[in-house]
Formats: sequence, structure tokens, C-alpha cells
Amino acid sequence: MPFINERLEANRESIEKNRAASGPVRASRFRFEPDVVMSRLRENIVGQDEALTAMESMLVRVKADIGEENRPLAVHLFLGPTGVGKTETVRLIAEAIHGNRDGLCRIDMNTLAQEHYAAALTGAPPGYVGSKEGHSLFDLDKVQGSFSKPGIVLFDEIEKASKEVVRTLLNVLDTGRLVFPSGNREIDFRNTLIFMTSNAGALDAEEHEQRYQKGWRRWLGLSPGDSESVRDVALRRHFDPEFLNRIDQILTFNSLTDNWLEALLDIELAGLNRRLGKKQAELSLSTKLRVELCRGYDARYGAREMLRAFRQRLEPAVAKALLVHSDCQRFEADVQNGSVTVHQYVE
Ligand SMILES: Nc1ncnc2c1ncn2[C@@H]1O[C@H](COP(=O)(O)OP(=O)(O)OP(=O)(O)O)[C@@H](O)[C@H]1O
Ligand SMILES: [Mg+2]
Repeated sequence: MPFINERLEANRESIEKNRAASGPVRASRFRFEPDVVMSRLRENIVGQDEALTAMESMLVRVKADIGEENRPLAVHLFLGPTGVGKTETVRLIAEAIHGNRDGLCRIDMNTLAQEHYAAALTGAPPGYVGSKEGHSLFDLDKVQGSFSKPGIVLFDEIEKASKEVVRTLLNVLDTGRLVFPSGNREIDFRNTLIFMTSNAGALDAEEHEQRYQKGWRRWLGLSPGDSESVRDVALRRHFDPEFLNRIDQILTFNSLTDNWLEALLDIELAGLNRRLGKKQAELSLSTKLRVELCRGYDARYGAREMLRAFRQRLEPAVAKALLVHSDCQRFEADVQNGSVTVHQYVE
């Protein structure tokens, strides 16, 4: 009943607006709990404690609502190699705040790489061939959020953006607004959490670390030298200082070493078990299968490869078992001669 839900939401917002205007009680207009968001993040993201701690401070600051008025609520740049949880972190925040993993507006900068695509961000100027005036890539509701919920925007692969797009973005970070070329429309980012992700610098920092692992500095017991500064040099190569200066915090996501594989597997299994729970079924994995699924993990490609194995090898076997043994509640998955089998669990 979307209509009734909208009315309820509108009522709640107007009550909260009145309260915010009149009461001496210091209540936040925002209806999300940093603790709740954080427990969702901590349950589902491994190996990125530093980034998560930064997210906690950000959420508390946003909830307190004491930021500058003519800026976005928060602007963060996530750096790091592929498949280590950058996008997943933003999706989980969206899920915890909006109840929906897709409660965010994602802009893929890779598709905007060519100069003239900048028009897609702001809508093409009048007479521009091939696109409608005023048509924009931004999903307004998701960008602007509501009185009680911040909007969320994710700019993925920001290093691929053209100079022109970066200039447009600079303006957004500066003023909290994006004015369309026609001049009669604008998008308001002042109620928005802005996240940007990039792999820029990740490779350089990784190479630096590997050289250290193999090099003489380590043998002599010297420190690796500053991999932060390696990252900063790479960042400066990709972005202008005026752009970097407008970012609240630049966070580096670590590459995931083998030690985290079991934890990643358990997160994925917990997700599958939540879905199986609706069918009154439950799954466990044999040790042999765990080893098999973690085999072939390559830190350079992040968690994706293992998750693919999980989805492509395990899930079809589970699906089949579910249909064949329709009265069975507990299943165990194992591996025999390289193929995954699922059978009834016996204690
Ligand atoms: N640190 C992590 N903790 C838990 N799950 C993770 C982690 N990193 C990756 N994953 C899993 O791997 C998938 C891919 O990760 P994600 O999309 O966040 O990669 P990314 O860091 O944004 O990489 P890219 O730079 O390629 O976009 C996620 O959907 C998630 O299930
Ligand atoms: Mg990503």
C-alpha cells in the first residue's frame, strides 16, 4: 500500500519538523541509529576496521546534524584494490538506513569517461542531439533523501571521470548543489552522503608493500617506508589538489589476505541460510568443501572469485537437493571428485 505508507511517512515528518522547530529536547531529525548501521557493517564486512571506524564517526556526526549548511552531509573517497568491500560498505549503509540495498544512486564514472557524456550528469543543454533536455542520470529521490533520512550517492571509479565531469563534481562538493545548464533546475545534495570509489593508487601501494616484503629494508629490520605517501603521490597523479581538498576523508581499504576467507565464506553461508530459512531448511558445509571453495583465491582479485564459486557450484546443488528432498530440513554440502554434492545431514 504505497499510498498509505507515503501518508504515514509524511505525517511522521511533519510531526518531527514541528518538534524540531519548537521543543527544547535535542532530538535529531534523522531517523537512523548509528549503532544499528554499524552492527550491520561489522557483521558483514571483514578486514576493514579502520574504514568502519571512520564510518561510525561519520554517521554520528551526520546524526548530530551539525555540519555546514551549504555542503553535502559527508564526502568520502574509498581507495583500494578490486573486490575488497568498497561498494559493499555503501550498499550496507543504504540497506541499514533505507531498508534496501538499492536505496542509493550509483553513478558509474566509467560510462561517463568521454567528455560529452558530462551532459548526462546535468541533462543536455537545449538542442543537444541524442538526449532529452533536463534528463539526468541522478535518481532525485535517492539523492535528496527525505527530512528524516539522508540521500546516498555513490560515484564508482571516479578516476575514470573526465576533467569536465570532475569540474561539475567540484561544484557539488563546494555548494551542495548541481545546477542544470538550462539554469532552471537544480539537484540539491545538502542532505546527501557522497561516496566515491577508486582503484587509483591501490596498485602502487601494493607494489610498494611487495617490494618491501622481498627487499633489503625488511631484512635489516627497517620500516616499510611510507606507503601512505606512495598512495598520495598516485592520488595527485589522478586528481587535482582542489578536488582532493574538498573530500572529508580519504580511506584506504586493505586487500583481503587468506586469513579472511573463512569469514567471507561464513558471511555468504549466513546469507544463504537466511534465504533457506524461509523454506524451513538449513545448510552446513563439510570441511573439505570449505577448503575447496577457498582454494584458488587470489588476493589480487579480491573476494569476487570465491563468491562466484559459491554461487555457481554450491547453490545449484542446494537447489536440486531442496526439490528432491522436500521433507528434509537439515542439509550438508560436500565435495566429491571435484563436484559439489548436497545430502541430508546426519549427526
Ligand atoms: N571486506 C569484505 N567483507 C565482506 N565481504 C566482502 C568484502 N570485500 C568484498 N566482499 C564481497 O565481495 C563482493 C565484491 O565486493 P565489492 O563490490 O565491495 O568490491 P569493491 O571493493 O567495490 O571492488 P571494485 O573496485 O572492483 O568495485 C561484495 O559483494 C561482498 O559480498
Ligand atoms: Mg566497487
